[in-house]
Amino acid sequence: MSLLLDEVAIATARLAEAGVESPRADAELIAAAVHQVKRGELHTVPDSAFDARFWSEIARRAAREPLQHITGRAHFRYLELEVGPGVFAPRPETEVMTGWAIDRLRDMDVAEPVAADLGTGSGAIALAIGQEVPRARVHAVEADPLARAWAERNITRYVESAPYTAGRVMLHSGDFRDALGELDGTVDLVISNPPYIPVGAYVPPEVGEYDPPAALWSGADGLNAIRAVERTARRLLRPGGLVAVEHGAQQGSAVYWVFGEESGWRDTRNHKDLAGRNRFVVSVWSAEPGDGA
Ligand SMILES: C[S@@+](CC[C@H](N)C(=O)[O-])C[C@H]1O[C@@H](n2cnc3c(N)ncnc32)[C@H](O)[C@@H]1O
Repeated sequence: MSLLLDEVAIATARLAEAGVESPRADAELIAAAVHQVKRGELHTVPDSAFDARFWSEIARRAAREPLQHITGRAHFRYLELEVGPGVFAPRPETEVMTGWAIDRLRDMDVAEPVAADLGTGSGAIALAIGQEVPRARVHAVEADPLARAWAERNITRYVESAPYTAGRVMLHSGDFRDALGELDGTVDLVISNPPYIPVGAYVPPEVGEYDPPAALWSGADGLNAIRAVERTARRLLRPGGLVAVEHGAQQGSAVYWVFGEESGWRDTRNHKDLAGRNRFVVSVWSAEPGDGA
């Protein structure tokens, strides 16, 4: 076994002891980032390449700093995004909802479907849609200036790597409750992973100490921002337009009724994440403009 793989084994035990959920994966990913190789290529790193940064980064992870903040990178579907202090690190559960939206946009009989990503954070959802549905136009809205700076960086990097996408993913600063008024009644799909944690609920240190508060907390029942997404979606969507909104694993029923109780929505459904937990709600806006629904 190589020196690095020995070190990864010791680091894995140290991270497990610190309560890290996926200690082996995290130790391997930190080693891979330090040595700038893929995770499956760690055995090719020569013993002479020892780098003390590995142990300082393992110490940060053991102190429960999120992996993505340590490596500065987050992977989301086919994208590599830059993340760090001030922005929510995108999560795998959001990839499932984004995949649902991508499939619906691809199926739409619309030349250039228009999507809105409410609370874009790093830009993950908007950029994944832009990358996987190149004919779509995506409007990404973010209120927090720190998060917006990360989104801007990721959009710029992405356009540099794929210049034909220039102008397809547009970043808007502001509150999604009153954003994008110029698009009222015309949007084909609204998607959002808004803050949805009830104030005072337990969250692990990686979340509570590193994700920005504006990305997490949303009133006593965690539903304030989701209710705002419902109101914004009814304003933005054209008749027949779709909404998808992520929620916490225990909120499936409550979020179903945020849409089910309001007139104008039809075919409201719960969808699950990869772990089989209710994770997002979708609905279809069926009201005609001006019918008061
Ligand atoms: C849970 S994070 C999700 C970020 C990103 N969409 C993702 O899935 O990785 C929620 C984001 O919504 C933003 N946000 C919260 N309330 C907002 C509002 N009223 N208007 C605009 N952005 C908001 C937060 O600043 C944060 O970046």
